Amino acid sequence: MDTATTSVITTPELGSIHINARPWALTISDNLRATFTFDREGRPLSCFLNGGNYRFGISGDILLKIVAAPPAPKLRQLLSEDECVRLHATVHAHVARIVAGVTHALSDDLRGWFAQIMAWDEDRALVNRRMFQSTYLPISIVPPDQYRALVLQITEGCSWNRCTFCSFYRDRHFRVKSPVALRQHIQQVKALLGRGLGMRRSIFLGDANALIVSQQRLRELLQVIHDELPAQDLYAFLDIFGAEQKTTDEYAELRAAGVRRVYIGLESGDEAVFNLLNKPGSPQQCITTVERIKMAGIHVGIILLAGVGGQSLAPQHVAQSLSVLTAMGLDAGDLVYISPLIVSDDSDYTSRMRDLGIVPLSSSALDTQMDELKTGARLATQGRPRVALYHIEEWLY
Ligand SMILES: C[S@@+](CC[C@H](N)C(=O)[O-])C[C@H]1O[C@@H](n2cnc3c(N)ncnc32)[C@H](O)[C@@H]1O
Ligand code: SF4
Repeated sequence: MDTATTSVITTPELGSIHINARPWALTISDNLRATFTFDREGRPLSCFLNGGNYRFGISGDILLKIVAAPPAPKLRQLLSEDECVRLHATVHAHVARIVAGVTHALSDDLRGWFAQIMAWDEDRALVNRRMFQSTYLPISIVPPDQYRALVLQITEGCSWNRCTFCSFYRDRHFRVKSPVALRQHIQQVKALLGRGLGMRRSIFLGDANALIVSQQRLRELLQVIHDELPAQDLYAFLDIFGAEQKTTDEYAELRAAGVRRVYIGLESGDEAVFNLLNKPGSPQQCITTVERIKMAGIHVGIILLAGVGGQSLAPQHVAQSLSVLTAMGLDAGDLVYISPLIVSDDSDYTSRMRDLGIVPLSSSALDTQMDELKTGARLATQGRPRVALYHIEEWLY
């Protein structure tokens, strides 16, 4: 278990400074008005400043979230490169002032932490961004319970890449890394994260459907991961069609190799809605493949899309999605995610809906459907798996 120590230092100039040190992260709170959290390399992870919550990605991207009083929506915004540079400078200056005022009262361990944090200036942040770009292709998405996972791109892109609503991997061709390329990738990842690696609790295998790789190649790739990063639990996305390709014995082998949960986008349990999405597979196939995966002792995360099918198909989308969840026999290690549909006017999905004359849900009807799916999913699964929201704009690596 992680141990934490908290020190409170009070000075006439600074007021009360709380410092919470855990093995892999340090949080500084300035009079409970501003807080800053850093990893063991001194890399900022998050801060709360002037009413805004900022999350810093390893990529160098920074996400700002402001929770407004209802009914105003929550603001989520990725900062521009200039704004990132300015925020790094602001955080650095703010923490430098605290360091100058509290150094006399710090233990050697805390002095070490502060030296690391002060070394992480705008230049260091820029070097980190460049290293990220030579290590990874953009990490488009992972499931919310894996936001603190270490991502390894054993594959790049999506082997299908043609679902009407999904633009995550349109910028790249599908590719499976060779064992040699994967070892090199992991070594770059280790150099990028340094001691920040200690914070990562699991490994997420990128990109869109990593387990679609043939069993023989997967065996080789997982062996490389175990050599380089032993004893880690593994997680991955898999589409329905890809999931169908493996036998229960093959899944059991993956379970023995550390695979703990596979995330599948069911999106809708209704055939008519499903067909509008141009997804491979079908809701019925999803039920049988989930059964096979679970028989091998691997948990599943099932993702539903709220809002697909617009107004006219809404009742059947909700009813059939819930009945598919019931048929899956999900249990406590499984998860259900509900993702509100976010599409641009020029997406294939939007133009298909337009051609069919299907009117999209208003934002209040979308909220209602999300509630129906969330409450209904809990009832349909007798409260066994966790049911949660999945917002694709909240993701940052
Ligand atoms: C990487 S994708 C899916 C994993 C796997 N490739 C599959 O198709 O089953 C992860 C999830 O993000 C969600 N997603 C993708 N595009 C979205 C969009 N435009 N709006 C909302 N959610 C979206 C979908 O629910 C999707 O299943
Ligand atoms: S939803 Fe999944 S299968 Fe479809 S394009 Fe996106 S990543 Fe690929």
